[in-house]
Parts: sequence; C-alpha cells; structure tokens
Amino acid sequence: MTAAVAAAPAPSEAPASRARIFSGIQPSGIVHLGNDLGAIRNYVRLQWEYEAIYCIVDYHALTSTHEPELLRQRTREMAASLLALGLDPEHCTLFVQSHRPEHTELAWLLATVTPVSWLERTPTYKEKREQQPHDINDGLLTYPVLQAADIVIYKASLVPVGKDQAAHLELSREIVRAFHNRYGETFPEPQAVFTEAPVVLGTDGVRKMSKSLGNTIDVFAAPEVIRKQVMSMVTDTKRILRTDPGRPEICNVCQLHRFFGPDYEEIWEGERSARTGCVDTKALLADRIIRHYAPAREKYLELIASPERVEGTLEEGADRLRPMAAETMAEVRQKMGLR
Ligand code: AMP
Ligand code: TRP
Repeated sequence: MTAAVAAAPAPSEAPASRARIFSGIQPSGIVHLGNDLGAIRNYVRLQWEYEAIYCIVDYHALTSTHEPELLRQRTREMAASLLALGLDPEHCTLFVQSHRPEHTELAWLLATVTPVSWLERTPTYKEKREQQPHDINDGLLTYPVLQAADIVIYKASLVPVGKDQAAHLELSREIVRAFHNRYGETFPEPQAVFTEAPVVLGTDGVRKMSKSLGNTIDVFAAPEVIRKQVMSMVTDTKRILRTDPGRPEICNVCQLHRFFGPDYEEIWEGERSARTGCVDTKALLADRIIRHYAPAREKYLELIASPERVEGTLEEGADRLRPMAAETMAEVRQKMGLR
C-alpha cells in the first residue's frame, strides 16, 4: 500500500479558499525528536496556511493505556507540549478526541463499510499483537476506523503525519471510497503530508525513534538527559578507528545535524575527511538540540504549572468544533437511513 502524498504548497501557492487539515497525536507521555521533526513541525508551519485542527487522541490511547490518572496527566502534558512547540490557538484548533464523542459514533458507522480483512492486514495491528499479546483488544483492530472518522468528520483533505502513518492513511482513503460506493460522495479522500524527515531513526541508528523501543531523544528532557541520549547514539558502525573516514549519508548523527544548523555540510565534510570524530559530532549535536528546544522547554514548564490555562484552550477547541461535527453527523445519518 502506498499513501497518496500531498506536497504542501508554499505560501504563495496556497489556494484562495483554505483547505482543511487534520492530525491526531497520542498522549504518549513524551515528545521525542521523531514526533517533532516528522510531524509537529508541519503542524506548526501549516497552521498559518490552512484551516488546521489538531487532536490529542485519548480514545486511541485506551487501546494500550489503562491507568485513568496517567491518561489524564499525559493528555494535559501533550497539550502543553504542542502549545510550547508553537501551536497557536488563534490559528488552529487544538482539542481532545473524547471531548467530541461524535468521533466514536462515526467510527461505528464507518465500521459497517469496512471489511475486517483490511483491518487484520494493517501493519500496526500486527505489531501491537506482538507488543501486547495479553491484551489484543478489539480497539486495536478497529483503531484505523476511528482514525478515519477523526479525519472525515471535519472533511479534512490533508493530514500531516510521519511515514509510519502511511498505511493508516491509505486505509482511511479506502474506507472513504467504500462509504461512497454504498451511500454516495460525502468526504474528501484524505492525503498524507510528510516533512523532510518522514522517518527519524532512534538512538540505535536502525529502528524508527519510538517510545516503545526506548531509543528516543526527548525534546523537553533536562539538558543532561538530552546530552546522555545523544551521546548514546550509534553512528557509522564501519568507522572503527578515529582516523577512518566517516560516511555522513548513513550516519544518523550527521543526518540529524541537517535540522539543527545551516552548516551541516561542513560538519559532514569534517566526518568524511576524519578531521572530526564521532564523539565531537555528537557533542555538537547535543548542544544544538538543547539550545534549539530551550525556549520551548521553558514555555512547557510554565504551561504545566498552570493546567487551567491548558484545559481552557482544549475546552474552547472542542466547543468550536461542535457545529462542524454535528453537521457531518446529520448528513451521514440521513444518507445511511438513520433519520
Ligand atoms: P504518535 O506518538 O505515534 O502519536 O506519533 C505522533 C506523530 O509523530 C505521528 O504523525 C507519527 O507519524 C510521527 N512520528 C512518530 N515517530 C516518528 C519517527 N520516528 N519519525 C517520524 N515521524 C514520527
Ligand atoms: N494513529 C496516529 C498515531 O499513532 C494518531 C491518530 C489518530 C491520527 N487519529 C488520527 C493521525 C487522525 C492523523 C489523523 O500517531
């Protein structure tokens, strides 16, 4: 399966009537570099050009998180993280999925047009079955149907996500087509929008950065934690001696430098000529990541200390979306013979 990918137009090419974009993120407890470089940077950039809706998907999180207080805390932390990284409630709508319960009603309706075989072959379902063999709940199987409902309830056409979401997006498109075949044209077919870093590798240099793999660099961690995480990164494994030339194309540390300074080509040249060693290149990357996220970290700590501000923003976001959700639900219920 390949997802249709929309290149986000430059501001000058933005359409006159602004397309709607939607994305969802799990309240996973931390924001890592993969989340920011792979998706959140695009959330921030696109809010200026599009009508943007961003959702913290607590219903989805229930498929793996079963501690009520922890879920509530992580939901607040994710909201504070997104605001600290630059989401501006004046320019986008940020809300919590369960505050607009119409998402689950639409998910049920979409489930009735979705063959189980499509869900069973979803790669993330297969992964989750392995990760939590004692808790293969129905929510894990139905997960992509709820994801499709999240997007289409607002008739969004563009979805900024990392590459790991490509299969889910393709499934959303298939569900939309299945709905249209039965009940007629109703929704746009959503397209994924990727950043220049659609897959950020973890500190092991092999697998994608992911909290469940324990290979993350956490953007709001204390400086000494970030430094430790960066210094633990696996670099070019063929560069054994300090005098061996490095291969920046395959070195994860060099690749990450691309996002933290305009001089990355000079850094790459230093590696290639063995003028610099991996340890120097990592130390420089750690300094730059810490410096880059310092203002956001300060804002995050401020927001976490005043949860009522964050909660107010989330409530307002969900309220703002009520009419749009109600309108889609009325149309869908009518088309399906429920009214
Ligand atoms: P999640 O924490 O799984 O809800 O992911 C939030 C967003 O970050 C999604 O759009 C993911 O596709 C994106 N993302 C997560 N991990 C990575 C990664 N290692 N590289 C690129 N994007 C990622
Ligand atoms: N499945 C996404 C993830 O794990 C989260 C998500 C839920 C989402 N609903 C969505 C992403 C709708 C984009 C659009 O990251």
